[in-house]
Amino acid sequence: MENRSQWGTRIGFLLAAMGSAIGLGNIWRFPATAYENGGGAFFIPYLFALLTAGIPLLIMEYTIGHKYRSSSPRSFKRISKGMEWIGWWQIAISFIISTYYPIIVAWAIMYAYFSIGQSWGDDPTGFFVGDFLQVAEAGTFGSMVPAVLFPLIAVWAIVFLILGKGVKKGIEVANKIFIPLLAVTFIIIVIRAITLPGALDGLEAFFAPDWSMITNGSVWVAAYGQIFFSLSIAFAIMITYASYLPKKADITNNAFITGFANSSFELLAGIGVFAALGFMANETGQLVSDVATGGVGLAFMVFPEIISQMPASGFFGILFFGSLVLAGLSSLVSISETYIAGVQEKFNISRGLAVTIGGGLAAIISLFYANQGGLNLLDTVDYFINNYGVALAGLFEVVAIAWFARSLKDLQAYANDVSDIRLRAWWRFCLSVITPIVLGYMMLQNLQTDIKEAYGGYPIEFLFNFGWVVAIGAMFFGALMTTKKWPKE
Ligand code: ALA
Repeated sequence: MENRSQWGTRIGFLLAAMGSAIGLGNIWRFPATAYENGGGAFFIPYLFALLTAGIPLLIMEYTIGHKYRSSSPRSFKRISKGMEWIGWWQIAISFIISTYYPIIVAWAIMYAYFSIGQSWGDDPTGFFVGDFLQVAEAGTFGSMVPAVLFPLIAVWAIVFLILGKGVKKGIEVANKIFIPLLAVTFIIIVIRAITLPGALDGLEAFFAPDWSMITNGSVWVAAYGQIFFSLSIAFAIMITYASYLPKKADITNNAFITGFANSSFELLAGIGVFAALGFMANETGQLVSDVATGGVGLAFMVFPEIISQMPASGFFGILFFGSLVLAGLSSLVSISETYIAGVQEKFNISRGLAVTIGGGLAAIISLFYANQGGLNLLDTVDYFINNYGVALAGLFEVVAIAWFARSLKDLQAYANDVSDIRLRAWWRFCLSVITPIVLGYMMLQNLQTDIKEAYGGYPIEFLFNFGWVVAIGAMFFGALMTTKKWPKE
């Protein structure tokens, strides 16, 4: 344990944690989620989720990582033997996410390049699904798409390089470059967006509160889901990153800083995206509600259209897709670090070998999404792994720690010993009562919806194989990994 890697500086750790949190979820998930779930009124459930689950869980994960100074499964095992599988389950979830996350980064690289001459022409949607991805019929795979394969190889090469160099020289250095660069790039984009004609209409649509939504359970479910994905909690990431903190390090303050930085970036992204949508609505004589869309559609279908209509299009296109690449890369590094740390410790192998095996396997599996059926596959795996992976594992994590191991008081005392801000009973109440109730409710709601109707209208067999089997398989994998003994320290 003496040889455990460490962050070089506090700011290095903070930038890496922010780099993990600020990702594709902030730029392409948040603006649409907020808009669809009541606009301005969404901020109430969002803030509630941040304060009752996001930050308390982040503090808990930082404390576990710092106290037990191990990968996520070993840290859980040190709390209670039966909990090791939760750590492996979360690692399996991260592994699965790391197989499709780089695909979106690869698309963004190509789109930064396409921005130069606006290759998408007058029909960005047709270009994205047709010329670029050559999307196959739902449920089929077709052949490999070279325009995705080559940037994908580049993404993995960068990730391997960063991870191979280790925690301090690789991850910390990369984030010290990526995050300030991302902040500057994004601020330029947002300033440009809010000064475009029509921007105010977009902002009005974004912030106008629809109070009737606040009593709708699914809005609260969306707020919790967003916070979990966006803060990288229940992914095994934050435990792993905190395990590299030096013995004398503040926990609670660091968690508040990470949480608020992530949410500020999210808000900034919402403002930028909706100002740009207002501009587009203005240019095309449509309503903001007609042009607003989420996820892949927003970044790769609507944004190209906005970029084409902007003055200095090429420049802003490169900035926008460049910021997606930066945000995506720093999150992907953190997602992959979870299994590298786990495999390295469990099998007592060198970091280099763990990077080669773990990253290599993820890279090979990611090739499945680089074919013509990749878009449908990505959409399905992403939906199921978030709802029945991240959120469910988060529920198991809090219940196991608060109710089975009964460790919250110990963890609180530990965090208070090293931190400036003192945790009080509110922290334990959030984790032992509020979060389990909301997450439990969220599970039931999601299950009801997904049993009643086929997600995305995909064939049932396809959803079974790539949705349910993948999500439940991650849980079984967790149990399987506990059968192997840990090497002696
Ligand atoms: N937290 C990362 C994101 O928002 C995974 O994309």
